[in-house]
This record gives sequence, structure tokens and C-alpha cells, in this order.
Amino acid sequence: MEKKITALPGDGIGPEIVSSAVQVLQAIAQKYNHTFHIAVGAIGGAAIDQFNDPLPQETIDLCEASDAILLGAVGGPKWDNNPSDLRPEKGLLRIRKHFDLFSNLRPVQAIPSMLHSSPLKEENVKDVDLLIVRELTGGLYFGERNRDEENAYDTLTYSRKEIERIVDNAFQLARLRNKRLTSVDKANVLDTSRLWRQIVEEKKADYPDVEVEHSLVDSTAMKLITNPASYDVIVTENMFGDILSDEASVITGSLGVLPSASMRGDNFGLYEPVHGSAPDIAGQGIANPAATILSAAMLLQYTFELSDEAKEIEQAVARVFEQGFFTGDMAAKGTAALSTDEWTEKVIAEINPSYVPD
Ligand code: NAD
Ligand code: IPM
Ligand code: MN
Repeated sequence: MEKKITALPGDGIGPEIVSSAVQVLQAIAQKYNHTFHIAVGAIGGAAIDQFNDPLPQETIDLCEASDAILLGAVGGPKWDNNPSDLRPEKGLLRIRKHFDLFSNLRPVQAIPSMLHSSPLKEENVKDVDLLIVRELTGGLYFGERNRDEENAYDTLTYSRKEIERIVDNAFQLARLRNKRLTSVDKANVLDTSRLWRQIVEEKKADYPDVEVEHSLVDSTAMKLITNPASYDVIVTENMFGDILSDEASVITGSLGVLPSASMRGDNFGLYEPVHGSAPDIAGQGIANPAATILSAAMLLQYTFELSDEAKEIEQAVARVFEQGFFTGDMAAKGTAALSTDEWTEKVIAEINPSYVPD
């Protein structure tokens, strides 16, 4: 198979972790006789510095000409006081909107050998296998907004169409899993949530094999920590999904292992870790590349439909954890931590011991 991928490293630890994932993709390509042409584009703060634009037209063109996008992370203190259109995060929001990537899939799975790094009780997290389906192109992130010295507002709007497509997507994904769907909202207060809940109720008839519950976001935040194994698929609006997915990283023990896929309903997708640019550890070569490597596995699965290759990456990551190799965010106190590159080499050795970079 011959395919084009655009890699967008971004800021902070972005370049370090994207470099790891690109090496893993090339190791897979070599083993399975695929050719992945991987071009690198600018986004975020790096693009502001170079082009005075967090999402330059060159980058959009590159992505348009690709089969999939692999993104690191954007943002950092250097750009935190920029006007909102010249912030790194705006580049990410614009690329999601440009490609209409309305469905952000954020799986959370407990891997037995890493449960020691979760502050939660092992018996509560060992069976966790859930999927957060986060609406990604609507809600507060994209509503009308304004700010002056005295006042500021952001508006939360959703259309029926926007809710229907994400809810349908979540029902379909639940069907492929354990057929349980939790729709998370704030219907006791918000009108957008009431419309959301009504649409989930209407859609139920189309998916009679899926068991549905509604859950308010505040108590869901509590239950996600006290009983995370009770969830299968969670569907929710943009901002609730953002917050709940970082919270869910406590289950696995580190934000550094959670991957994501941002999809629009066909094979095209943007793949990125759930975490950010981690400015506090950037440039030190110690970031955990697992989330980005697992995002690359999602790319192989969803865009290229290469299930064996995707599984091979996931199993290699699990085996490296089983062997007791961790980066600093997950290593038990008093044990040695591997660098980003050392840990990546372990994964590559599991996949393709004879891999030689081109
Ligand atoms: P963050 O996710 O960058 O970091 C939170 C904490 O987790 C930090 O202590 C960090 O060191 C740690 N961490 C995150 N990823 C890690 C990894 N791979 N390995 C080891 N440790 C890791 O969140 P933040 O500090 O709130 O935000 C920092 C910047 O990142 C901000 O500018 C924010 O806007 C941006 N951000 C970008 C994205 C994205 O590009 N998708 C996502 C979230 C935040
Ligand atoms: C994420 C990030 C982004 C979001 C920011 C950086 C715009 O937190 O991908 O989770 O809020 O969607
Ligand atoms: Mn986030």
C-alpha cells in the first residue's frame, strides 16, 4: 500500500513525540511492504513564528493532498498573551473545522502492567475499556464570542443536524462494542443539553439493540473515577468531552498514553494524542510517546483499514509496558525511567527488530 501522511509536530513536546510515532510507522511500513510518504507541515506556535499564522495555507494544502494527518500538540507560554486569532490553539480549532472533523474518538483502556501508575485502586480500574465520543466542531469552542474591558461572552449553540450526526456515530460505535451508550449532558440547566437529550431519545428507536442512559456531567465526573468500568461508550458535547477525557487519563495512570482520532464520517482523519504540548517537560527528551504512537495505530486502523498493522503497534506498546519499561510520567518511584527515544526503540524492536531507518 502506498499512502501520504502529513505530520504536524507543533509545539513543546510535539516534535519529540511525532518523531517517535513516525519512526514506528516507518518500521511497520518496512515490515509489511507499505510505502508511507510522510510530509511535515507547520501548525500552532511554530507556524505563528514562521508564517504569522497558526494554520498557514501551505499546511492546509499539504493536508488536503494527504490521506491522513498525524498531529503532536500546540501551545505554550510564549504565545499565551497573543490575540485569540494568533494563538496556537486557534490553528488546531481551524484545522478541525476546515476538515469537518466532528467526531473525536478517545478510547481509554486499562493495561494491567501499568495500573501501578494510577492513583486509583487497581480493582476499580483493571476492567476499564471505554470510548469517549466527543463532538468536536460545535458548542462553546465555535459559538459567537466577544470581549471588552468590562464584559466577555462565549455562546454555546448546537443545531439538530450537528447533534444527530454525532449521536448516530456514537450509537453505531456502541453497536460494534458492548452496546451500552451513556449520553452526558447538563439537561437540568442548559437548553442545548435538552435538545441533545431529546435527539438521543428519538434516535433510540433506530438502535433498539443499544442500551441507553442519560447522565448529568457533574455526577458523571464523579462516577468516571469511582466506577469507570461501568462505562462502554460515552457521547457528549465538545467541552464536556474535553474535560472528561483528561479526567479519564487518571484511570490509566498518565495523560501520556491516551490517543485520539478526529473523524468526519469517511476514512479521512486527524490523529492526535489527548494531551497537550507539556511545556514543563519540553525539550528534555523525556515525554511519553505512547499516546502519539497509539494515535498512529488508530490512523492505520481507521484511515488505511490496516487492522493487523494497527494491532501490532498496540501489542508492542503493551509488551514494552509488561517488560517494565516506562518513561518518567509512569515509572514507579525509585525505578529508572527511559527517555522518549529509548522507549520508542523498545517498541520498534518489538515490531521489527531488523528495522533500519532510511
Ligand atoms: P498538557 O497536557 O500539555 O500537560 C499536563 C501535564 O501532563 C503536564 O504536567 C505534562 O508534563 C504532562 N504530560 C502531558 N503529556 C505528557 C506526555 N506525553 N508525557 C509525559 N507527561 C505528559 O496540558 P497543559 O499543561 O494544561 O497545557 C499545555 C499547553 O498545551 C497549553 O498551551 C494548551 O493549550 C496546550 N494543549 C494542546 C493540546 C493539543 O494540541 N491537542 C491539548 C491540550 C493542551
Ligand atoms: C484537546 C485540547 C484542545 C481542545 C485545545 C488545545 C484547543 O485541549 O485536544 O483536548 O480543547 O480541544
Ligand atoms: Mn483537552
